[in-house]
Amino acid sequence: MSAGTSLAVETNGENESMESEFQKGVKHLCERGITKVPTKYIWPIPDQPNSGNGNSSASNPNLKLPIIDFAKLQGSNRSQAINSIRNACEKFGFFQLVNHDIPKDAIESIIDVSKRFFELPFEERSKYMSTDMRSPVRYGTSSNQNKDDIFCWRDFLKLSCQPLSDVLPLWPSSPVDLRQAVLNYSKNTKYLYLMLTEAILESLGLMDITNNENENDEFREFKDGSQLIVVNCYPACPEPDLTLGLPPHSDYGLLTLLLQDEVQGLQIQYEGRWVTVEPLPDSLVVNIGDHLEIFSNGKYRSLIHRVLVNPSKSRISIASLHSLPFNSVVQPSPKLINEDNPRRYMDTDFASFLDYSSSSESKRKSFLESRKLS
Ligand code: OGA
Ligand code: NI
Repeated sequence: MSAGTSLAVETNGENESMESEFQKGVKHLCERGITKVPTKYIWPIPDQPNSGNGNSSASNPNLKLPIIDFAKLQGSNRSQAINSIRNACEKFGFFQLVNHDIPKDAIESIIDVSKRFFELPFEERSKYMSTDMRSPVRYGTSSNQNKDDIFCWRDFLKLSCQPLSDVLPLWPSSPVDLRQAVLNYSKNTKYLYLMLTEAILESLGLMDITNNENENDEFREFKDGSQLIVVNCYPACPEPDLTLGLPPHSDYGLLTLLLQDEVQGLQIQYEGRWVTVEPLPDSLVVNIGDHLEIFSNGKYRSLIHRVLVNPSKSRISIASLHSLPFNSVVQPSPKLINEDNPRRYMDTDFASFLDYSSSSESKRKSFLESRKLS
């Protein structure tokens, strides 16, 4: 660490040379030694974690997320479990999944290898940096580092999972066990995703369970969809009250399966309050994305959530994002639309989402809002 650079950071003396440092990520910044959050990462007061402004950010410590027992879905209590899923998706769009059957060592391996990836020298990690939103392997920082005026306190590694034979050789070759651990984890989460979407379609009354083939068109499309593994790293932050790991957002796809380590940070916005999603050992957090809200014509909710950072602990989370095939049109299921329940969203597709994300339209308005029919 050079004393000169660190002094520039300490005094918030942010000039162009600092800007290029910020582009290298939060981990890199922390490795240079900082005791204050640079201005670039300081969010306006109403957006800060403890602000009481606007949509009342007071937290609600008593609210607990629904817990869905995956074993019950597979067993004789299935209809009861389907009812619980329906309630969870209608009310929260979020639930904790327990007894999910992913082997403990598969979970431990992906967390462990992710930590080791972010501990690699910057030169090694930076080989995977790309500003192309469509690149199958992307190491980066903030939310959208090409566009964000204020940065968030997060670095990430995004790995596209299909077609596997094409993308696998592009995934990082270091740490040496990364590809195997991610491959294994992605197969486990894909299987869970399939079981959960089947259950979700059933809970919406769209799965004909008397039909043995169980191959309705919707399910076929959901099955052939895309999967993206996002490894999030939120380094310990000297002034966590000034910044955010991720700003309030909803996930764009169908379903997200999130593995968080033992450090808390994820919050959902529920009835105008922020609720912390407590890390529950051996569970996964599952949430509905924009595509599923649209598909369900608003019956199921894609909830706004954000991530806070921690003063002493670095946090790792691994999100498995599942969407429709890249070229599919997303629309409310015709079977869920009728006179009493008119169509509430316009058609959309992946490409429009990417265009929206890289455009300079108001950040306050979410992609989902832009798809609503008024
Ligand atoms: C995300 C996300 C939450 C977390 O990656 O979209 O919301 O806890 N992550 O990292
Ligand atoms: Ni998210």
